[in-house]
Amino acid sequence: MENEKLAAVILAAGRGTRMKSSRSKVLHELCGAPMGRYPIQAARAAGADPVIMVIGHDPENVRNAFAAEKILFALQHDQLGTGHALLCAEEALDDYAGTLLLLCGDVPLLTGATLSRFVQQHRANQAAVTVLTIHQPDPRGYGRIVRQGGEVLRIVEEKDATDEEKKITEVNTGIYLFETPLVFHLLHALGNGNAQGEYYLTDTVHMARDRGARVGAVSAADRQEVLGINDRVQLAEAEAVLRRRINDAHMENGVTLIDPAVTYIDGTVEIAADTLIHPNVHIRGQTLIGAHCIIEPGAVIDDSHIDDHCHIKAGSVIQGARIGAASQIGPMAHLRFGTVLRGHNKIGNFVETKKADIGEHTKASHLTYLGDSDIGADVNIGCGTITCNYDGVGKHKTIIEDQVFVGSDTQFVAPVRIGRNSLIGAGSTITRDVPADALAISRAEQKNIEGWRLRERKKKTEEK
Ligand code: UD1
Ligand code: CA
Repeated sequence: MENEKLAAVILAAGRGTRMKSSRSKVLHELCGAPMGRYPIQAARAAGADPVIMVIGHDPENVRNAFAAEKILFALQHDQLGTGHALLCAEEALDDYAGTLLLLCGDVPLLTGATLSRFVQQHRANQAAVTVLTIHQPDPRGYGRIVRQGGEVLRIVEEKDATDEEKKITEVNTGIYLFETPLVFHLLHALGNGNAQGEYYLTDTVHMARDRGARVGAVSAADRQEVLGINDRVQLAEAEAVLRRRINDAHMENGVTLIDPAVTYIDGTVEIAADTLIHPNVHIRGQTLIGAHCIIEPGAVIDDSHIDDHCHIKAGSVIQGARIGAASQIGPMAHLRFGTVLRGHNKIGNFVETKKADIGEHTKASHLTYLGDSDIGADVNIGCGTITCNYDGVGKHKTIIEDQVFVGSDTQFVAPVRIGRNSLIGAGSTITRDVPADALAISRAEQKNIEGWRLRERKKKTEEK
């Protein structure tokens, strides 16, 4: 079983100069997750344990970003090259002996399946080092794979290559499998006498050969998978590939996406079958969407649960909310954190809710703010209703019991409780509790002054 073990080291100490960013490259996001999380997940999917990330630039933020991934970190103070970077992980590996998968934090599209095949080939070949290569019609910038009679001799970096070697189109992806402890023996003997004065991990290839160990190379089938992210153009390319993968999986599961190229769904989102999603929708974070929902253009949904048969109309923003079945939201509604709709609700245009628990079949159809509220079932909230929940110091609660009818343009000055089955007259400012079954009305009585307008007009014409 000894040779079934797999550990992974992910190199992520580099600056990522071409990103022109103050943040580490591995923190730049792809479909809602920092880039560095993708190689971690791929390594895990291939069965690697432990997974060690070598960090150097912006180490505190990188540690924090991946703290939940249960990986180990190794610090590379100065970025002296890829060989030196792997050497920095030696201590964290704690005398581990077995196969070591080496990945780069900026190569996010590799799949666990590809890595598993890579591991199988390395083991079948009983190699000490296997390099994952790719044919690049334009090989500039990459290390070239130098072969003789089919065998891999060594890898030569662009800056050290002869004109003849520069013509080689088989290049190093920067992904390898090594047997340990051999690779560390080689790394301890590594020099930096090359064009860049760096400790090159690539030199382990000819060093292993010189020691009589077997070296292999496996060509990756999919160039896209080994795409390295060096700048923001490549970041956007990788995002498009990931988006397509995520969206394809949803479509395979029975979700209709009218235009998957412009539908933005994080990898963390779950959606049930027969839901229909229009273009330009963003669904992010820990979001669950049920079956038979319709999500119209421009909806933005973060960290929310939406049950079956809901209709989210155009331009609605839903964040940290739970929406019960068969509810209709929007267009242009804003459901904020702590909103709970119990089901069969209607929250219409220009309605904002926050920390509002709203009972079944309750409606707020237009132009309303419901904050810090507990609202029962079968309540009708009239147009322009506002909960005045904030007095400049603290937030206060509005409680509205079942079957209340709230007339338009009502203000509830919280804290206030509205009893079951009561009716609030339109235009009221409610500052005191209302008992059940009552009518509450607080607007000033209307006064009609007959002929006032005519008299005013007459006065004005006389002045001229
Ligand atoms: C490396 C390979 C090259 C290969 C290319 C593929 C070497 C010497 N060359 O070149 O053959 O074609 O990757 O993209 O290995 N890193 C550290 N610490 C360091 C230096 C780098 O952690 O001191 C990390 C970087 O953050 C990055 C990875 O290692 O994730 C690769 O480094 P990079 O500088 O991009 O290597 P290249 O010179 O492009
Ligand atoms: Ca590079």
